[in-house]
Amino acid sequence: MTTRRLVLTRSAAVMGAASTGLLLPEIVRAQSGRIRVGFMLPYTGTYATLGVAIENGVRMGIDEKGGKLGGRDIDWFKIDDESEPSKGVENAQRLVQRDKVDVLIGTVHSGVQMGIHRVVREAGVLSLIPNAGVHEATRALCAPNVFRTSFTNSQPTLALGKPMFDKGVRRAVWITHKYAAGDQAFEGFRDSFTKAGGTVVKELGLPFPQVEFQALLTEIASLKPDAVACFFAGAAAVKFIRDYAAAGLKDKIPLWGSGFLTEGLLDAAGPAAEGIMTTLHYSDSLDTPRNKQFRTAFATKFKLQPDVYAVQGYDTGLLLAQGMAAVKGDSGNKQALYKALETQTIDSPRGKWSMSKAHNPIQDIYLRIAEKGENKVIGIAAKALADSGAGCKMG
Ligand code: PHB
Repeated sequence: MTTRRLVLTRSAAVMGAASTGLLLPEIVRAQSGRIRVGFMLPYTGTYATLGVAIENGVRMGIDEKGGKLGGRDIDWFKIDDESEPSKGVENAQRLVQRDKVDVLIGTVHSGVQMGIHRVVREAGVLSLIPNAGVHEATRALCAPNVFRTSFTNSQPTLALGKPMFDKGVRRAVWITHKYAAGDQAFEGFRDSFTKAGGTVVKELGLPFPQVEFQALLTEIASLKPDAVACFFAGAAAVKFIRDYAAAGLKDKIPLWGSGFLTEGLLDAAGPAAEGIMTTLHYSDSLDTPRNKQFRTAFATKFKLQPDVYAVQGYDTGLLLAQGMAAVKGDSGNKQALYKALETQTIDSPRGKWSMSKAHNPIQDIYLRIAEKGENKVIGIAAKALADSGAGCKMG
């Protein structure tokens, strides 16, 4: 008898249990047990404030849906990835193999994301990307278990070239941190600006996370373009904005960028940020009841003003809570869970959005100007913009 029981496979054991009426407790245990959710985010370095905003947003989104996932209580796990790509795989493995998370939420930096992506694709663990825009994650390397709630790196800048051209910019310089986020943002800018009729006269860059901008600013001054367009975010963006003004360029050569340039830092950047024009899928000044209600609730809860990163985290929390509710907490039924995640509409402070086939938001991109500590919306630069999802084959 003992020997026979030992050689039973798990499914045979479950079938046996079913025939004796014992299946019910097993199912109940699977659906009501605690669920393990891991954050892999930067809590130190250039993008530290972005990581904190995202975690706050996720928690708030889930709290608003009752604080559980499909009825299950949550055990949280947390790793500081330092925006360090060389530690990406190892950190993701810690969450997946050591902590055995059911869901991995991360991260901010595109290079680190590629490490997470390798691990979750192999392990088949649900991966929610609350920021990093690296194209591959929802293009050639897309996967059924990977969902992004933010943007692809070229999505905001695909809407940047035309408004610049329309404002009279004909010759532009591009400057960025040289890694996937900046290089892919450039693709969007180059394509939209040249299509509108403009010329990119020079591409400038420096390695992440360096912030020694002086030589590059001197070069910009001597090139005398009509405008500069850029990708910088977090603490590096604050320094770039301030250095740009201190070099005397602010009033001579207008500064444009993907909207990360002015997110969560207008107070820190001060008057140097006035007049910067950007494109992004969110703006703090969006005049909708939904955005106002979110901003008040977030500021009350965390004593911090929300930014695009907080919104992306919040939407990640909503997506996860809604998806888990749809499958009544049965995260083991992956096919049903992924289907539920694919088909949700997210009632976001940025405006309602849904997932593309490749699992990236289809969303409006706003044109904004930084004025008196606010990103003021000027208009919609692109309506319901979907990433191409080029090369994505699910399954
Ligand atoms: C990225 O590395 O993908 C990234 C980082 C910060 C941003 C946007 C994109 O604000």
